[in-house]
Order: sequence, then structure tokens, then C-alpha cells
Amino acid sequence: RGARRGSECGVLKIGGVRATELTEQFGSPLYVVDEEATRATAREIRDALRGEAQRVGTDATVYYASKAFLSVETAKWMVEEGLAIDVASGGELLVALAAGVDPRLIGFHGNNKSEAEIARAVEAGVGTIIIDSVIEVARIAAATAAAGKRQRVRLRVNSGVHASTHDYLATAHEDQKFGMPLSDAPALVREIVSHEGLEFVGLHCHIGSQIFATEGFRESARRLLGSYVELSEITGTQIPELNLGGGFGIAYTPAQAGEAPRIADIARELADIVAAASVEAGIELPHLAFEPGRSVVGQSGVTLYTVGTTKRVDLTGTGATDPADLGYTERLYVSVDGGMSDNARPALYESDYHVRIANRESSEGPALVRVVGKHCESGDIVVIRDELPADVQPGDTLAVASTGAYCWALSSNYNFVPRPPVIAVRDGEARMIVRGQTETELLEQSIVA
Ligand code: LLP
Repeated sequence: RGARRGSECGVLKIGGVRATELTEQFGSPLYVVDEEATRATAREIRDALRGEAQRVGTDATVYYASKAFLSVETAKWMVEEGLAIDVASGGELLVALAAGVDPRLIGFHGNNKSEAEIARAVEAGVGTIIIDSVIEVARIAAATAAAGKRQRVRLRVNSGVHASTHDYLATAHEDQKFGMPLSDAPALVREIVSHEGLEFVGLHCHIGSQIFATEGFRESARRLLGSYVELSEITGTQIPELNLGGGFGIAYTPAQAGEAPRIADIARELADIVAAASVEAGIELPHLAFEPGRSVVGQSGVTLYTVGTTKRVDLTGTGATDPADLGYTERLYVSVDGGMSDNARPALYESDYHVRIANRESSEGPALVRVVGKHCESGDIVVIRDELPADVQPGDTLAVASTGAYCWALSSNYNFVPRPPVIAVRDGEARMIVRGQTETELLEQSIVA
């Protein structure tokens, strides 16, 4: 307690623009994206992963996992910074193409792509389609026959690794919906190569998301590459590529800052892991691919809210046992003008965030706060636990950090609350890159008989 002081608050500038100017011009709540920070992070991640792959004697393609946050502008930034784009639906594909992304730079994912989506991807000439099930092999083959094209495909497998993350974010153990068991790979690859229109380029595995430890990647790479000799015998050539997915975790709170892996370290470890696993498997190092999403955009986004009401809850006798709450005898509930409709992550994964007052300084001592939304659920929480100056009050602007990934993307219209716009800031300039919705637009969706 008291480690962070109220005086840390002040008038926040993002990309050279005052938070208060942003809310005055564009309203509240508001998603704000620092364009230069996003671009710099994209470059840093690409350079780290490619540089380390080159150090061990291969190269890497870095796909931005656009599900984290996609707009036409963002897709352009990514391509300009040298990233390829991973899409997971026909809609994401549409946006990437509208941004002018070279289709050959697009990887198309999904465990239940429709025939129409597959046809669109094949016709557009996407670089790779990631096959997620047996049924899809024939569907993609049919689409290539209809379009008179050949299609590069990867096969998504489960390495059987249990990534240490929230259950809903772990994806490479067997008992979940994505990918095929690694033991089925030989049969599937035999099936794939039997189709003239399909070119098998390698295995794909995404072990999960918001991962802090690299052990899971090590085990995954070892298991996948362990099958490459057998698979190469089936295809008749060395399998050229290996895609290890994304999932690199980020710090959401100052407490996590020390734990979150640095991209340079992850890149070096992954390159070493793949190099060692290739030697062990007796194969040449494949070309690598990665699909980071959260780590590219997460920390360069901020959400601005306006405080509407506050209330104090006396914690004595409530059985509040969380050690982080100890030392406080009351909790200040701070209600803002958004909530789980613009950030579902605390409700979905109990993710915590970091909040600061962004419109003024304060010399008040800290209060234990919980920032909550305006929706009709007690789980409608934006920040589970943080400290703010005890004089936080209606009308204050709050800035919640690291909301760049999976916040706009998971947003909803719960309680008929319109989605806020997304504003990009750079060099003191602000511009809207995604329009917000209005209540009138939401009303118009209701059919009046
Ligand atoms: N590749 C594949 C195949 C994926 O399924 C995902 C994420 C990624 C890459 C990117 O993972 P990242 O680097 O962003 O961790 N809504 C959740 C995250 C779901 C992630 C789904 N797949 C959240 O808000 O934490």
C-alpha cells in the first residue's frame, strides 16, 4: 500500500494529444491507439523474430493475428512495417483485402470456415489456408478445382501441450475444438497431397494466448518437428515451413511488468528451441512463421472513460480476504460510462487492468478502487483492483492502459450501448480510424412492423 501515489496522476497525453482534448472532440468512452507505438512494436517484434531466425540459419514470416484488433488502417500499418496478416473469418479477410494487403501475405484460419469463405479466400489468392479438420481438406480441394488454382495449405495440429494460461486461452491440449491430433498428421497429409490443387507447406500449432513461459513452445516445436521426417517421406520433399502461432503474453498491470517476457528473449529462445529440435529430428531448419496479436497492439491502446458516480464500501466484516486488499478498510467503487460492452476481458478471464486519472493532478492519498461499468451485471468490471487518489470524482477522465488487444474486437452492444469509436493519435494529431455507433443506429436494427 502506498507504493503508488496519487500524484502520479496528471493530464495525460497520448501520441502528443491531451486525453481531455480527445474526449471533448470525440466523446467518452473512447478507444485511443498510439499509432507510432503500434508501429514501433510491430517492427520490434518482426525484427526480433526474423533476426533470431536468421541467426540460427533460417528466416521467419511474422503474421499479425488481426483478431486482436483489425481496421483498414491497422492492417495498412502492419503491412507497412513488414508483417503479414492472419485472418480468422471472411469478415477479417474482407477488411485485409480492403486495406490493399497483398493476398499472398494473408493466412486464413478458422475451425469452421464456410464453403463461401473458403471459395473467397482461394479466389482472392491468399498465401495459406490453415486446415483445421479432415472435412476441410475436401472442401478446400473443391474450391481450388472450381477456381482452377493451387492453394498452399498448412495443417493445424495439437501438440498436446498444456499452456499455462487461463483455460479459455489454452488451445493445444486435445480436449478442445481447434486442430487435429498430431498422431493424425500422417494420414491427413497423405489425404492433402492426394489433391492436385493442394500444396502442403507445413504444420501449424498455436498453444494458447497470454503465455509468459516458453516451455510450452519448446515442447510443441519438439513434437511437431519430430514428425517432419515421416511427413517429408509422404510429400516426397522436406516439409519447408513450421508455424508456431502466437500467444506471447504482455503486462497489463505494473505488478505484471517484471513477469512478462521480453520479445527479444522469446525470439532468441524460440530460435534456439527450433534449431535444437531440428537437429534432434535430423531435419533441415524449416522457415518459421509466428502469429502474434496481443503483443503487437495490446500496450499501445488506452481506453478513456468519464466517471459518473462513486460509492464507498466498508470492507470490515465483509470477509474480503484478498491479500492485495489488506490494509484497506474500504473499497471505492468508481462507475464509468462504458464497461463490459467495450472491455469484456475482466468478465471473461478475470483480467485486471491499470487505471489513472487523466484530466488533472491530485495530491490526495490513494484509495483502493474498483472501476466498474454501467451494465446490469455485478461482473461488469473494468479494473478489478488498483489505487487512485481518494478524491476521484464524477467528471474525472480515467485512462485504462493496455486495452489495444481484444477490447474493441470483443465489444458488444449489451444494454443497447453503442460501440465507441477508435481514435489514432500521432505527433499531436488525432484522427478517427473506426467510427463509433449511435443509439439511433442500434434502434434502426429493430424491425418496426
Ligand atoms: N494464432 C491463432 C491460431 C490464434 O488462435 C490466436 C489467438 C493467435 C494467433 C494470436 O494470439 P495472441 O498473440 O494474440 O495471444 N480473446 C482472448 C484471446 C483469444 C485468442 C484467440 N486466438 C483475450 O482477450 O485474451
